[in-house]
Amino acid sequence: MIDPILAIETSCDETAAAVVQGRRILSSVVASQAELHAPYGGVVPEVAARHHLGTVNAVVDEALAAAGMRLADVGSVAVTQRPGLIGALLIGVATAKAIAYAARKPLVMVDHLHGHIAACWLEPVCLDPPYVSLVASGGHTRLDLVTDLREPRTLGQTIDDAAGEAIDKGARLLGLGYPGGPALERLAATGSRTAHEFPVGLRGAGTRDFSYAGVKTALLYAVRERPAPPDERERADLAASYQEAVLRPLADRLVAAAVDEGVPAVALGGGVAANGRLRELVGEGADRHGLRLAVPDRSLCTDNAAMIGAAAQFTEAVPWPRYLGLDAVATAPPGGIAA
Ligand code: KG4
Ligand code: ZN
Repeated sequence: MIDPILAIETSCDETAAAVVQGRRILSSVVASQAELHAPYGGVVPEVAARHHLGTVNAVVDEALAAAGMRLADVGSVAVTQRPGLIGALLIGVATAKAIAYAARKPLVMVDHLHGHIAACWLEPVCLDPPYVSLVASGGHTRLDLVTDLREPRTLGQTIDDAAGEAIDKGARLLGLGYPGGPALERLAATGSRTAHEFPVGLRGAGTRDFSYAGVKTALLYAVRERPAPPDERERADLAASYQEAVLRPLADRLVAAAVDEGVPAVALGGGVAANGRLRELVGEGADRHGLRLAVPDRSLCTDNAAMIGAAAQFTEAVPWPRYLGLDAVATAPPGGIAA
């Protein structure tokens, strides 16, 4: 019998807790702060941290109750240690340490990206390695080769903005609210993807990295240099062409990496994975090369604690009470998750 894990995630603007047992999610609670940050057009780190502090205990209690458990019933506690907003991470790590210490449980310090990569291992998708994973969110854009879930290997990543960040900034330039992904997708659906030719960052054979600074600036000029503000039709064309320039390299490089590495599957994760056009592009590429495409439910693509509980099962637990000296870390380890 596998012990259930209580997992906690507070790296950005979602306060989340979950109880996971093996591949099964017994409960997953996510309290989003998106509305709180919307007036600022982005996440305000200090506001996020303070809000986590006020919410985290209630979210943990709710996750345990929804799983029909008490703290004594779980085998260990897991928490996102890195990377993320340091103040936000600290709330989760301090909470998890306190809970684990009081209950005399081991603690598992989890890498947030490792969580996104492991999300599709959970039911009902149940993807097993080997596969290539694309995580595209507001903070990250990364390709990882997963031959062993204990040590995914980073193949490429963005050298400047994350894909979700480029999408949010583009949406803002087109007068859409924050977060911009869903609104940009809706507007893009009514426009032409070929009306404008936006530059694709790091175009060239074989690259596995991404760059979004150029396309973002190109949209800024395209909007600014018009004699009059774009009408509805023009905004839709700009949205569709821009979205295509952001998404196409994600799909192309994910599929190319899987083919080059000789793995039979690709996986999507992160908030941008909710985008229908991205799924379509990756789906077409995967079909062409006979690859399985694994996409977890939207609630497992955006930030959540169930994925942290999944990754925890591939991360060494720190025994009670040795973890009391460990801390949150804002950055990703330079050499990848297992480094
Ligand atoms: O994973 P996530 O919820 O939070 C982190 O950033 O970690 O990802 C949020 C990002 C935002 O940039 C948001 O605009 C984007 O995911 N997003 C989308 C869509 N839904 C959310 N991007 C494109 N199309 C969508 N439908
Ligand atoms: Zn994330």
